[in-house]
Amino acid sequence: MSDISSEYLSAQFQGPGIEISGLSKLSKEEKINYLNRHFDCKEILQKFWNQDQNLQQLLDEFSENTVSNFPFPMGIVPNLLINQNLYTVPLVIEESSVVAACSKSANFWKNKGGVKTSILGARKSGQVHLIYSGEKEKLLNFFFEIKNEMIEDASPLLKKMEDRGGGLKSLEIIFKETEQVLPTSLYQENLNSHYVQLFAHFETCDAMGANFINSVLESLAVSFKEKFYKSGKFKKEKCDIIMSILSNYTPECLVRAEVSCLVSELLDPAIDMSAEAFAQRFNLATWIAQNDIYRATTHNKGIMNGIDAVSLSTGNDFRAVEACAHAYASSSGKYKGLSNSKIENGKFIFWLEIPLSVGTVGGLTSLHPLSKFSLQLMGNPKASDLMQIMAAIGLMQNFAALKSLVTSGIQKGHMKMHLLNMLNSFAASEEERIAAKEYFSDKTVSYSAVREYLKMTRTWQ
Ligand code: MEV
Repeated sequence: MSDISSEYLSAQFQGPGIEISGLSKLSKEEKINYLNRHFDCKEILQKFWNQDQNLQQLLDEFSENTVSNFPFPMGIVPNLLINQNLYTVPLVIEESSVVAACSKSANFWKNKGGVKTSILGARKSGQVHLIYSGEKEKLLNFFFEIKNEMIEDASPLLKKMEDRGGGLKSLEIIFKETEQVLPTSLYQENLNSHYVQLFAHFETCDAMGANFINSVLESLAVSFKEKFYKSGKFKKEKCDIIMSILSNYTPECLVRAEVSCLVSELLDPAIDMSAEAFAQRFNLATWIAQNDIYRATTHNKGIMNGIDAVSLSTGNDFRAVEACAHAYASSSGKYKGLSNSKIENGKFIFWLEIPLSVGTVGGLTSLHPLSKFSLQLMGNPKASDLMQIMAAIGLMQNFAALKSLVTSGIQKGHMKMHLLNMLNSFAASEEERIAAKEYFSDKTVSYSAVREYLKMTRTWQ
């Protein structure tokens, strides 16, 4: 198709978008031409294409309606000692201070025994949500009669995972009766309608397991409904399957990471404070995050800076990881910091407990050449190893952030790291960048200070 203008629909809406039908059917070139007519963007979109056609095709196939690639920097955190094993951890993130912060903490704790991590659980879950109209006891009895047959029906889907040691670990029926029956405003079919769940637990070995879990749940749902209607036991009753889907809330897929040392070992000549005072202020910072939602959110955001960056570098679903972390942070009914600390018998102890449902096989993990490399860099970890590495990185980021916050403040280091971005935004030359780094080494960095500095040095020339 050379001219796609006939595809445009008449403009009937406000806003910067241009209405079109059938965009997904156009070739990539045509999609870009379509955008280019309105946004003059061909050059920038093509600039980030990969010259290697096979690689570009692979990237395009990860998504839909692709028009370019959006590169992010990949940095590495060396010297992270976890359970006496040394790791180099790849982080994909655009916030420069995160890599620096994790690296600094990793170095600091390497000589104090490193991070100790453990897996507290590996179970994930999923639900078939349904509405049942009828007597509760009758469905309960029926479920127990057919439960094994339902599992048997799903066995072709379960086989491979069971061979690897995982599979469907339990299946229950739950009557979710916040009220006795569903309000008729929600479900008008029958006055005796209940919201019911078939609640399944899974173990998925080294896979994140989303496709496996969803396929099994859909099979269980079909099997349940078929048996319900074919049994001849339910003449007046109804079973309406609403949806079948894994839960991204995985509180039983849990990992713990901890560091500890004598309080006296926290002494740092770079900070103007005794080790005892630092430990106490640090403790207060974690206490504040346990008690104030505004601070807890930022505290956890810092932890997720590290964890999301490893999710990305390994091709894991960082949205799922994020959603779960914040749900877990509020599991007590109050949103809290995910990490905590204490001082006990002269010892400083700092730990993090977080659910992390991630995989090292399947999905993008081995398809994206850089995820593959990331896993290689970390010694091709099992999913349980990756959970521990991610928790350790989260803890390292959090330690560095709290250390800065309760001592010098965050802006000093942050703005130094940001200096390069600012210089780039003023199109500074290499010489200017070197001179500016030197100039700002003992000064406060701010956008206006950098602008003034460049204005001054440029008028001298
Ligand atoms: C910035 O990305 C993260 C921090 O705000 C985290 C924190 O405050 O703990 C520094």
